[in-house]
Order: sequence, then C-alpha cells, then structure tokens
Amino acid sequence: MDFYNFRVPLLILAAFGRCALSSPLLSAKANGVIGKNVTFKTTIPSTTDFLTITWNKGQDNIITHIPSKNTQNIDEKYASRISYNATTCEIQLRSLTKEDGGEYILSLVNSEAHTLTGQIHLEVLEPITDVMITSNIPEPVEFDSTVILTCSAKGSFTYKWFNGSEPLVLDGTHMRLNPTGNQLIITEVRRTDLRRPIFCIAENLLESGKSAPFNLTVSYGPENIVTMQTPTVPFLKKGSNLTLTCSANSDPPAQFKWMFNGAERSQTPNITITNLEEENNGNYSCVANNVKTNRNVVSPVALVTVLEALSGTNISSSTSLLIAGNSTVNLTCSAKAGNADTVEWLKDSKPLTPGDRVTLSADKKSLTIAQVVKGDMGEYKCQLKNKVNQDEARYKMVINYGPENVKVQGKNAVKFEEGIQMSCSADSVPPSMYSWKLNDTVMNYSRSIYVIEKAKAGDSGMYTCEALNPITGMAIKATHKLAVTEVGAVDEGLSGGAIAGIVIAVIVAVIIIGCIIKCRRKSSTDIASPY
Ligand SMILES: *[C@@H]1O[C@H](CO)[C@@H](O)[C@H](O)[C@H]1NC(C)=O
Ligand SMILES: *[C@@H]1O[C@H](CO)[C@@H](O)[C@H](O)[C@H]1NC(C)=O
Ligand SMILES: *[C@@H]1O[C@H](CO)[C@@H](O)[C@H](O)[C@H]1NC(C)=O
Ligand SMILES: *[C@@H]1O[C@H](CO)[C@@H](O)[C@H](O)[C@H]1NC(C)=O
Ligand SMILES: *[C@@H]1O[C@H](CO)[C@@H](O)[C@H](O)[C@H]1NC(C)=O
Ligand SMILES: *[C@@H]1O[C@H](CO)[C@@H](O)[C@H](O)[C@H]1NC(C)=O
Ligand SMILES: *[C@@H]1O[C@H](CO)[C@@H](O)[C@H](O)[C@H]1NC(C)=O
Ligand SMILES: *[C@@H]1O[C@H](CO)[C@@H](O)[C@H](O)[C@H]1NC(C)=O
Ligand SMILES: *[C@@H]1O[C@H](CO)[C@@H](O)[C@H](O)[C@H]1NC(C)=O
Ligand SMILES: *[C@@H]1O[C@H](CO)[C@@H](O)[C@H](O)[C@H]1NC(C)=O
Ligand SMILES: *[C@@H]1O[C@H](CO)[C@@H](O)[C@H](O)[C@H]1NC(C)=O
Ligand SMILES: *[C@@H]1O[C@H](CO)[C@@H](O)[C@H](O)[C@H]1NC(C)=O
Repeated sequence: MDFYNFRVPLLILAAFGRCALSSPLLSAKANGVIGKNVTFKTTIPSTTDFLTITWNKGQDNIITHIPSKNTQNIDEKYASRISYNATTCEIQLRSLTKEDGGEYILSLVNSEAHTLTGQIHLEVLEPITDVMITSNIPEPVEFDSTVILTCSAKGSFTYKWFNGSEPLVLDGTHMRLNPTGNQLIITEVRRTDLRRPIFCIAENLLESGKSAPFNLTVSYGPENIVTMQTPTVPFLKKGSNLTLTCSANSDPPAQFKWMFNGAERSQTPNITITNLEEENNGNYSCVANNVKTNRNVVSPVALVTVLEALSGTNISSSTSLLIAGNSTVNLTCSAKAGNADTVEWLKDSKPLTPGDRVTLSADKKSLTIAQVVKGDMGEYKCQLKNKVNQDEARYKMVINYGPENVKVQGKNAVKFEEGIQMSCSADSVPPSMYSWKLNDTVMNYSRSIYVIEKAKAGDSGMYTCEALNPITGMAIKATHKLAVTEVGAVDEGLSGGAIAGIVIAVIVAVIIIGCIIKCRRKSSTDIASPY
C-alpha cells in the first residue's frame, strides 16, 4: 500500500482533531460467532506517525503499541488468541467466547499529543447447529389436521422456509408463519402439502444452517370408490359365476368390505360367486375404510338378479295324425328349464300370422290350427326368450290329404308288338296305392306305371287306375283308352286254314310271275334273230 496516498487525508484528519468523521475504525459494529474469529478493520494506512496505539476493551487494556520502540505489549489474557497488524493496527480475535462481546476502543496518540479514538461494538453470536423441523402431529389427516412445523436450531438466527428448492409461498390462511417465523402452520392440510421435502434455514448475519429434508405423509380418502361387475349384464344365468371388484383412492390403502342386502359378506376388495343361485339375488355394495382418516365411503348398490336359462324347449302336438279338412291340431311349446318372457312362432322361417283357423293361446305357448289344410304343412318353430338367453324348438307338421288330380298319362294307340307305358299319378300324402282294371277285369298290378312290353290285340280296352290314400281312406279313379292297331288287328282274325291258303296263293303267284319273266325274255330273242 502506498503511504503517500493516505498521507494527505490523514493530515487533514489530524488537523481537524477529534471529529465525528475521524474514526480510525471502518465500522462501529462487528459480529462474531463463538469459537470463530473476528477482525476489527481500521482506516489507518500506517502507524509510524503515532507515538502510542492502544486497544482497550472497556477499561481493560488489550494491547499497547509504541511504534518508535517497536514494542507491542499484549495482555496475557489475549496473548494466545490475538493477532496484531503493526502497520494498520488491526486486531484479530480468535476463538471468540460469549464474554468477548462488548465495546472495543482504539486510541492513537500522535506527536502533537492529539488523540484519535474509535469505538466498535462486538456482538458474539451463538453458532447455528442442530437445525431441524418437527411436526406437532405424526400422522396428519387431510382437511382435518392443522400441521404445525417448528424449525428449531441452536444459536442465534432468523428463519427461512423452503418447499423443495423454492422458497415457500404462503397464502396467510391455509399456510402461514408465526410471528417469529420458526413455525409453519398449515391448516386443513392437503395430501400434497408436505410431499416435496420442506427445509428450514436458520441464519444470522454470519452464517446459516439448513435442516434435513422433512416430508410427512398426509392420510387421505378413501374417495372415488369404484366397483366393477363381471359379467356386466344386469341379469345373470343361474349356475354362472359373478365377480365383483372394488377400489378407492386412499392413503394408507383402504380396507374393503362387501355388503349383501345390508349384511357383511366378505372382507376382501374382490368377491367371486360361483354357481349362482336365486338366493344370490339382491343388493351388493362395497364399503371402503381408511384406518388413519377413519373415514368410510359406500359404493352405489349393484342389483344382482339370477335367472334360470331356458333349455330343453320342445313342441308337442296334440295329434300326430292330421287329415286335411278334418283335423284340428294343438301345438304346445314348453321349456324344460327356465321361464320365458316372450314366445314367438315361425312357420318356414316366417313369422306366423294368426287368423280364423290359426289361433294362439293367451300366453302364446299353444298354437291351435283348426281344420288343417295342406298349406299348413311345413316346419314350425317356437322361440322362447328371457333376460338371460333364448331357446327354440322345431316341429315338422305333416298333413295327410288326397288323392287329388288323379290321372293316367300315355299313348292311346299302340302298334302290334310294340311296347307302351301308362302312368297313373295323384297328389297325395302319404303317397297313394294304385290298382288297375282293364274293362271290368281287375289286373294283378299295383305299380303307378303300367308297362306292356309287346302289345297284343287283347291289350286294347278301357284302363282304369284307382289311387287310394291309405290314411285318408279316399280313393279316386281315372280312365285311359288304349287301342292296339294294324298287323296285329288282321293277324288276330285269321284261322290256320286261311294262313295255309295265303301261303299257297303266294307261292302260286311267285311261280306265275317267274314264268311271265322267262317267256318275255324268250320272245325278245326271237324278234332280234332276223338281223
Ligand atoms: C481463525 O484464525 C486462525 C489463524 O489466523 C486460522 O487458522 C483459523 O482458520 C481462523 N478461523 C476461522 C473460523 O476463520
Ligand atoms: C497488515 O495489513 C496490511 C494491509 O491489510 C497487509 O498488507 C500486511 O501484510 C499485514 N501485516 C501483517 C504482519 O499481517
Ligand atoms: C409445495 O409445493 C407443492 C407443489 O407445488 C404444493 O402442492 C404444496 O402445497 C407445497 N407445500 C407447501 C407446504 O407449500
Ligand atoms: C419422505 O420422502 C422419501 C422419498 O420421497 C420417502 O422415502 C420417505 O418415506 C418420506 N418420509 C415420510 C415421512 O413421508
Ligand atoms: C365358475 O368358477 C368355477 C371355479 O372357479 C369354474 O370351475 C367354472 O368353470 C366357472 N364357471 C363358469 C361358467 O365360468
Ligand atoms: C335392493 O334395493 C332396492 C332399491 O334400492 C330395494 O327396493 C330392494 O328392496 C333391495 N332388496 C333387498 C333384498 O334388500
Ligand atoms: C381385484 O380385482 C382387480 C381387477 O380385476 C385387480 O386389479 C385387483 O388386483 C384385485 N385385487 C385383489 C386383492 O385380488
Ligand atoms: C319333444 O316332444 C316330442 C313330442 O312332440 C317327443 O317325441 C320328444 O321326445 C320331445 N323331445 C324332448 C327332448 O323332450
Ligand atoms: C273326418 O272326421 C270325422 C269325425 O271325426 C270322421 O268320421 C270322418 O271319417 C273323417 N273323414 C276323413 C276323411 O278322415
Ligand atoms: C292345447 O294343448 C294345451 C296343452 O296340452 C292345452 O293346455 C290347451 O288347452 C290346448 N288348447 C286347445 C285349443 O286345445
Ligand atoms: C299277382 O302277381 C304276383 C306276382 O307278380 C303273384 O305272386 C300273385 O300270386 C298274383 N296274384 C293273383 C291273384 O294272381
Ligand atoms: C274291352 O272292351 C272293348 C269295347 O267294348 C272291346 O273292344 C275290347 O275287345 C275289350 N277288351 C277285352 C280284353 O275284353
């Protein structure tokens, strides 16, 4: 440090003597911490102009320095823990104790016997240790609890609070500090309030101490209780299985109970009921409880209805033998198990339309067809439905009728020794039995097609086919005329003698024709000879 730079202001200071502004000390106050060091700074660039320099604490002398003799007289009480700078006359006190606090006076006397004095007040602060946060309650409950966090520390300080790494934001109502600032008061604590660690910092002018991170679990819930049913349908098949699950938001996790018609059924969050019976019908609800918050929530009620599924559906008929125009039939549809809510009838896959002859009973389970006609024939289906399933049964209805439209088809004429077929047909259920007559003679023939392999004259005549329905007992006839023609007609009329006569006549004719040809050849040769 350059001496001349300081010399001028010092001379001015010296000239003004004891002036308020002339303190040789940099500040009037100093802080120290027990066990630490403190230095009293001066504005003195050099002590060479001074005769004596003394530091006193109150009345007690600490050090007397005579620059001209280069002697420093240090009180033995301080000897071990003081450093003195002979140039600036600054002192450093080490290993401060509480008792070091007080007024320190620096006096400098110059050659003109002017005295320059400065006074500094040392405050010795307690060191900051054991900074920590404690809570008034170990297990706060959301909304119910007022949590008071207390920041404590050893030493002298003021407090600062941090939420995570950010300074705590206070709203004055939900969260506020006590007047001394060492208590954080959180009323109606929320679950998230104390999740990020809270820190408190205790500090004074010289140092600060930070607490360990503090977090606290705030119990909450249960809330948002949710139940689920599998399967989700409101009506369940008897014998099937049902699972009910329950969950809720809660810390600590909720304890669950399932209630059945108001009575406790199970102490688990999930229940499975196998092989459902009607006795399982009723109201199920779940109760969630948090042992810390001591709160309960009850789920909405799930109404379970068990129904027997429809099975073994059958159609029974009052009569198995139905004759067109004469029979009345009653079809009854019933299920072996389960009760039907609806009954539907179909004929040949189309909805059945009741009418004059076709009527349904009030419960629709019986179908009555009066005076059946052949159009009633077909496949009948009844469909039963209830809330859990559907079932159906089929019935093939046969109407016996006929014969109708009996007719014989075939040619009316056939040549001698040719073949012919005549076919007799009839509309009939069951198929008709056929019998044949030629003129009035019963033929031993029972097939629908009458076959003649080689027609002879005796096959001519009036054929009658009779169709007989063995069930209805009805018989209808149809006729067909057949004639066997030409050669056969002559042949049939000739006797043995006539045949012989014809043969002889033919032979004679052949001989005569042969002679005529011979004679003609001879005469033609005679005419040619004159040349
Ligand atoms: C106090 O001063 C001594 C000597 O100058 C030094 O060794 C020590 O580290 C200082 N202590 C503090 C807390 O500054
Ligand atoms: C005294 O203080 C001056 C200025 O701060 C410094 O340069 C010097 O080294 C100090 N002397 C001793 C012995 O500490
Ligand atoms: C800390 O911060 C979290 C997230 O911003 C907030 O939810 C919580 O309430 C705060 N806690 C305090 C004590 O300020
Ligand atoms: C504080 O938080 C840590 C980490 O997030 C966790 O392990 C600890 O259990 C929490 N302590 C309390 C009291 O909630
Ligand atoms: C119902 O549960 C039982 C036992 O877990 C199982 O044996 C059965 O197959 C299940 N029945 C149905 C219809 O899923
Ligand atoms: C189920 O609840 C309904 C309506 O909540 C009620 O009418 C019915 O009586 C309850 N059934 C039983 C068995 O408790
Ligand atoms: C209850 O059922 C739910 C959903 O199937 C499942 O996530 C949960 O783990 C089950 N709880 C228990 C205790 O079995
Ligand atoms: C259904 O009814 C018919 C009579 O209509 C009966 O012959 C048959 O055995 C029944 N089938 C069943 C499965 O009951
Ligand atoms: C019709 O029914 C009546 C009385 O049941 C019976 O006498 C008659 O023979 C029946 N006719 C036919 C074609 O079956
Ligand atoms: C049809 O049969 C059912 C059952 O056998 C019976 O209850 C019903 O009265 C009958 N209906 C008629 C019209 O015969
Ligand atoms: C009818 O013909 C069959 C063979 O086709 C014969 O067995 C039966 O005896 C004949 N009946 C009469 C009455 O001729
Ligand atoms: C059947 O009657 C017709 C006419 O009466 C007759 O021409 C024919 O020869 C008769 N046929 C037989 C086999 O009696």
